[in-house]
Amino acid sequence: MKAVVLYDSAFGNTRHIAEAIARSLDGTGAEAVQVPEFRPKDLHPGDLLVVGSPINGWRPTPIISAALEAFGPDQLHGVKAAAFDTRVRLFVHGDAAKKLSDELRQHGAEIISAPQPFYVKGTEGPLLPGELEKAAFWARSLLHAVGR
Ligand SMILES: Cc1cc2nc3c(=O)[nH]c(=O)nc-3n(C[C@H](O)[C@H](O)[C@H](O)COP(=O)(O)O)c2cc1C
Repeated sequence: MKAVVLYDSAFGNTRHIAEAIARSLDGTGAEAVQVPEFRPKDLHPGDLLVVGSPINGWRPTPIISAALEAFGPDQLHGVKAAAFDTRVRLFVHGDAAKKLSDELRQHGAEIISAPQPFYVKGTEGPLLPGELEKAAFWARSLLHAVGR
């Protein structure tokens, strides 16, 4: 099993979370990959795909949405997947991770975790204290979910 952490990030906060997740996916050779460098053909059944995006206006960024839309209807069949977003802690902040999870499922992926939010202090960050540790913990729960 190989793991890929695919992300988009304007100010670097989602990248920091993606890299913390990749570091904690021990033994999978996981890499954090920003959208332009991602090659969908490198994914195979049995692999783990983690996708993350900042919330932009209650949704994932157009860049990451386009990357997922480019998958064929059943291209992620056999791929295990999970999604996260970064957001500000507002009373009403919308959601991106659930939309990413739904999109992954529509392309045939098996969703192995509830969508996961991570919090930034303001639009440009920084991440709130403890969020990188939370990312590492979540990554280990993903490994557990795939039996590693
Ligand atoms: C155009 C724009 C729209 C945003 N909309 C939301 C939103 O609806 N809800 C929210 O919680 N945060 C929103 N944010 C804050 C982002 O979530 C925050 O900038 C992001 O987590 C930073 O991640 P990044 O450093 O990876 O870009 C918005 C930011 C921008 C720039």
